[in-house]
Parts: sequence; C-alpha cells; structure tokens
Amino acid sequence: MPRIVQVFDTTLRDGEQSPGASLNVKEKVEIARQLARLNVDVIEAGFPIASPGDFEAVKAIAEEVTGPTIAALARATKTDIDRAWEALRHARRPRIHTFIATSDIHMKYKLRKEPAQVLEMAVAAVKLAKSYVEDVEFSAEDATRSNPEFLKTVFEEVIKAGATVLNVPDTVGYATPQEFARLICYLKENVKGIDKVILSVHCHNDLGLAVANSLVAIENGAQQVECTVNGIGERAGNAALEEIVMALATRRDYYDAVTRVVTEQIYRTSRMVSTFTGIAVQVNKAIVGDNAFAHEAGIHQDGILKERTTYEIMTPESIGLTRSRLVLGKHSGRHAFAERLKELGYVLTNEEINRAYEEFIALADKKKEVSDRDIEAIVEGRHAVSQDRLSLDYLTVVSGNKTVPTATVRLYRDGQLVEEAACGDGPVDATYKAIDRITGERTQLVDYSIRAATSGKDALGEVVVKIRDNGNLFTGRGVSTDIIEASAIAYINAINKMLLNREYGQKAEPAPAEPASLGQ
Ligand code: KIV
Ligand code: ZN
Repeated sequence: MPRIVQVFDTTLRDGEQSPGASLNVKEKVEIARQLARLNVDVIEAGFPIASPGDFEAVKAIAEEVTGPTIAALARATKTDIDRAWEALRHARRPRIHTFIATSDIHMKYKLRKEPAQVLEMAVAAVKLAKSYVEDVEFSAEDATRSNPEFLKTVFEEVIKAGATVLNVPDTVGYATPQEFARLICYLKENVKGIDKVILSVHCHNDLGLAVANSLVAIENGAQQVECTVNGIGERAGNAALEEIVMALATRRDYYDAVTRVVTEQIYRTSRMVSTFTGIAVQVNKAIVGDNAFAHEAGIHQDGILKERTTYEIMTPESIGLTRSRLVLGKHSGRHAFAERLKELGYVLTNEEINRAYEEFIALADKKKEVSDRDIEAIVEGRHAVSQDRLSLDYLTVVSGNKTVPTATVRLYRDGQLVEEAACGDGPVDATYKAIDRITGERTQLVDYSIRAATSGKDALGEVVVKIRDNGNLFTGRGVSTDIIEASAIAYINAINKMLLNREYGQKAEPAPAEPASLGQ
C-alpha cells in the first residue's frame, strides 16, 4: 500500500501574498469550497491578525467549509494566536499554525532576539495554541538557513509543548534538493519524538526548485506538503500543488506515495484561482498551462494517434480537462445547459445557473458556436456579484480614426442609476474616465491586459486590469465579445474589490514579532 501524503493548501494565505493577488471574502470562500472539492487535507485560510478582511475570510471559511482541516496562521505572540483562535473557533477541524524564525540571520536582524528567547517564544506559542485547540502546527521560519542543531532543539521542545505538526520551510527558496533531503533525514533521525508528529515541508520557488525540494522531502519521509494552486505566492511563489500531486500520481511506481486529491478537479481549481487573483497561468506551465497537453510537432501527433502513451505520460482527463468540443447553441434549453455545467465540474446554485444561462443565450445570439471554453469564461466571469456596489447597466462608445473617442456609461451605484460621459485618448480611456466621474475615485491604473479567452474571430475577449489604491493592488476581470465592454466590466470589478477592501479595512503588512514574550 502506498503511504498517504497530506496536502496542505496555502493558496489563500501564502498564495494571496503574491503581488496584486488580493481576494475578497466571497472569492476566498468560493476558492475554499473548490479546495474542499479537490479534497485537500488542510486549507490554510489566512492570517487573521493581518487585516479585518483576512479575519473575516478565515471566520467565514471556518463556519462554512466542511471536510478539510481549516488552519489559520499566527506569529508566536499572544495577540496573533488569540486572533487566530477567534477566527477559527467554529471550524469542525481547526488548526492553529504558529511560526517564528530560527535562522541566525532572521533572529539577529529581524527579531533582534537571542536563540534562547526565540526558543522560549516558540514553546510559549505552542502551549497557548494548544490551550485552544488539539491540532497545532509549528513552523521554524527560514529553517533551511538555520543551524540544524538549534532547529532540532526547537522542534524537540515544541513537541513537548504539544505541537502535532512540525513544518520545515525553505522560506527564501535557497535549498538544493540534496541539501534539503539531508536536512529532512537529519531531523527524522535526531529529533526526539518526531515519530509522534507529522513532518511537513513548505518550499518557495526562488531558484525554481520548490517542487523538486518538496518531492525529495516526501521521498525522505515528509508526511505533509505545503503548496499553492498554480504555484502562486510570495516572490517566485510556492511549490505548485498540481505539479506535486500529478508527479506522485504519475510516478507512483517511483514514490510509492499518493495524496487524497481528486485530480479531476485540478483544472477547474487552477482556472478559478487564476480568474479570481488575475494571475495568468503561463502557457507552458506544467499540468495546467494551455500547452501542457498540446502536441505540435507532426512526429508527436503521429505517435499520439498510433499510441497515446508514446508522448503523453498522463491524460488531460485526469486533471479534469475535457477535450474542447462544440456543445450548445441558441436553441439549447436551460436543462441541457445545466447538464453541461455539471459535466464541466461546476456546482452552482439555481440562481447562478439562471444568470449564466441568460449570458449563454446572449452569447449564442452573437456567436454561431458556443464551446466549453466559452461556457467556462461565462461562469468564471461571474463572481462576487452580491457584494458589488457598482455594476454596468449601459455603455455606448463613439470611436474612429477621425473622431474624439467619447463614452457614455450608466452604472448602478448602490442600487441607483448614475450616468456620465467623457472623452479620452481612446475608447477604453474615455470609458474609464466616465466611470471615474461616476465613482468620484481617482484610482491609478497600473496594468491592463487583453487576450482572447476562446478561439475564433468571434472569441470572447478577456480583460484583466490592476488598480492601485493607497499602496494596495486590486485586480479586476471582464469577459465579453465586445472588448470595450470587457474593459469596463474589468475596471468596475477592480473598483468593487477596492471598495469592499476599504469596508473591511486595509490589509496591513504584518509588523515584526512583538518584543514582549507571550505572557504579557
Ligand atoms: O515561507 C515561510 O516560511 C512561511 C511560514 C509562515 C510557514 O510562509
Ligand atoms: Zn511561505
């Protein structure tokens, strides 16, 4: 029997630390629900002390998402741990994840503490967390640049204090696979009591080694792996969940280890995370990139037609990628549409199906052929609707090579219709100026990108924008056959996120760990 490796997903915590990836509460809950369908073992829902928005998201996920363990991050301080517990208390399976740095460089320059003080804080943090909850994870931040003997001491003491999971982060993505394997073996052989807890790893991708390091750790006995969907995260990101899971599934003969992940949900999860965060998946990304299963060379195509396994080590279906085919047209009924949604892996409420169906019929009127990708674009374009303060009602644009581009926009603003017009350098600029007049906001547009979400001349255009407000970045996405309309929807989507974030309070960069010990 292969052994089971637990998958700890930190998309909503470390992944959300990607520049520009801010998610609102509703989006986080939707992603958490999808992670539950993916069947990960642990969802790290956030860092409750970081902002009121993070707190609300962890609380909502703890209350609403069942199945996986729900974890919340906390520095080794009383305020952080109390806040984490407050957010988690209604979870069926709560876990407090507390951490403190153990490398000389972090202790000296960041924490300004002696190793003995750090040890004391780690133990006190685990004891406090344990007074709230049975399941306590302790992370030794920057473990791979820590003195292994000090790491051993800290781990032995936190086990005595009640830690159930010990995590070894390669915080700055510095370790090489052989080095990391040696560290894992050293800890397994030398830390007293390690056999009573779960040994976990958490690898960053600064040198492109996060997945390799995670796999080599599993090979050497790690029982939990921390990762994010699409590998998003701080700087170059975290180990990619889909790559680790599919490596274990495809090379079961080699690793003799498996996860509980429902691999057929991987593609859907990847799309959802990319859509909500606005972080595109590179086309040649392993497993979930657009080209991951595309065979261009004639020699490969020939081989595939003769025998699939000549050039394909896993099937697209194994990650839930259905072969794109034409499905429905404008005469298709709601029932057939709902069935197709189910086949594509969407679990929607009746109201959501009705809204998506309306859009599908509108699209089928404009396009002769509606493909699976079109349907995905429609469904993924619709989210966070109930919390939106602004929505587009009407847009008309005049543009050409001998005219001043002019836009007239009518929005619902808190339920009231408001209309404005503006001129601009181009049709998108004019549209955005008219929207700014309605909202009264002076946001800074820092990024605008457009691509065809589907294929063909009548493809759906997908626009992703990033706006900056008070140092925070917000990403918006819009999809339409009309690229100006898609641009307006994306901009409004980003402004809605910004307004929501203001309501919940700004996300603060976590301040350095408190100088006081836990007792104070
Ligand atoms: O990279 C890191 O060290 C972390 C810890 C908080 C686990 O994210
Ligand atoms: Zn990390």
